[in-house]
Amino acid sequence: MAETITIIDDRTGKKITVPVKDGVFASSALRELDPNLRMYDPAFLSTAACASSITYLDGEAGILRYRGYPIEQLAEKSTFLEVAYLLLKGELPTTQELEAWNFEVTHHTMIHENMRKRFVDGFHYDAHPMGMFISAIAALGTFYDDSKNIFDEEVLNKQIRRLVAKVPTIAAMTYRFSSGLPFVLPNNSMSYAQNFLNMMYRIGDDYTVHPALARAMDVLFILHADHEQNCGTTAMRVVASSHADPYSATAAAAAALSGPLHGGANEAVIHMLTEIGDVKNVSAFVEQVKKGDDRLMGFGHRVYKNFDPRATILKKTAYEVFEVTGKNPLLDIALKLEEVALNDEYFISRKLYPNVDFYSGLIYQALGFPVEMFTVLFAIPRTVGWLAHMSELLKDKEQKISRPRQSYTGVGERNYVEMKKR
Ligand code: CMC
Repeated sequence: MAETITIIDDRTGKKITVPVKDGVFASSALRELDPNLRMYDPAFLSTAACASSITYLDGEAGILRYRGYPIEQLAEKSTFLEVAYLLLKGELPTTQELEAWNFEVTHHTMIHENMRKRFVDGFHYDAHPMGMFISAIAALGTFYDDSKNIFDEEVLNKQIRRLVAKVPTIAAMTYRFSSGLPFVLPNNSMSYAQNFLNMMYRIGDDYTVHPALARAMDVLFILHADHEQNCGTTAMRVVASSHADPYSATAAAAAALSGPLHGGANEAVIHMLTEIGDVKNVSAFVEQVKKGDDRLMGFGHRVYKNFDPRATILKKTAYEVFEVTGKNPLLDIALKLEEVALNDEYFISRKLYPNVDFYSGLIYQALGFPVEMFTVLFAIPRTVGWLAHMSELLKDKEQKISRPRQSYTGVGERNYVEMKKR
């Protein structure tokens, strides 16, 4: 079978034959037919904007792999920092490499005192943690003059280590600030997830991190570390393509993540379950969704059309967490909602299944996080994915500054009309 595609322009009879490789063809070939011809693809539904070797995703088959490793194996056997190394460097680390990486990340977890005293303290007392997180990441870049030097690999890698190390500290800081609690310094003897929980919850000496909960946090971090060209990662790539520094690009990606259709969905799931309030109200709510008056948050995905493998892992993790914390009272409503939706023609025909956010919110809540922190929890591990994509983009000789074209549908040229004549 020929690995080519032939396109005929019926307006002129001109024909081009273009090679198809890895499921894509170069749409730039269309310019041979007509230099003004463009592909119209709102929201990039059919566009591959880059070549990437980081994450493989097959939405029909429910497959997610980081650098070739199935997400199920990583969630079961790996740790978040090991996965971070894998995503950023392409291979699993050896024992020595992992030790060195853990040491480097652990020793960059501190934040400059001015960040806390002047920057974070300047927020209004009820500022949303995600808004604080986004701005704090951008502000962090101003502490590192060298961060603009993105084509010096060692300098870039240093910013990556700093960002991976400091995002949990910033995240915990936003929480402590909004709760009026004193900040807790990072503890270098703890694992990444343990240290984060410790910075979140320690009050005096009265806190020990439960190992099962630290593990659940680590699994959540692993599952959220990357998801190829989603909205946040696309924002990261677009901003990084202008050669902005990694802090500014990460802040932009975090801003994209904050929307309710993306990383904000887990927060929306809890609001939805709370509003439903009781198992007996589930069917009425589903009817409302079917009428288009509401949306079933935590359901549906742009690419997963059979199941989201992350949701399957998280359902199991949820039960492990509930064994320690006691069952989240919203679980019964969630289970009933899932059961009703999965058996309803509306959801079946549209291939709508629980996504990662359907269960993550329930776990976060059981771990004691307020809903406003949920998107921040997503942003911590996703920072690794964003930075892996930025590094890849900067080495990609085919990339240029992102600059899509448009199909102009406005009025043609017209003369300015004086105010009194309008
Ligand atoms: N509840 C009810 N109907 C839905 C839902 C939903 N959650 N999702 C999609 N639909 C319907 C939609 O109304 C449309 O119906 P129709 O064909 O009759 O107009 C059909 O299903 C196709 O939906 P779509 O909007 O074209 O799908 P999309 O690929 O553009 O949107 C989505 C994907 C995730 C934005 C959407 O499913 C959604 O809004 N889900 C709820 C929010 C959510 O859980 N987001 C988290 C995504 S996973 C985390 C991440 O990776 O960011």
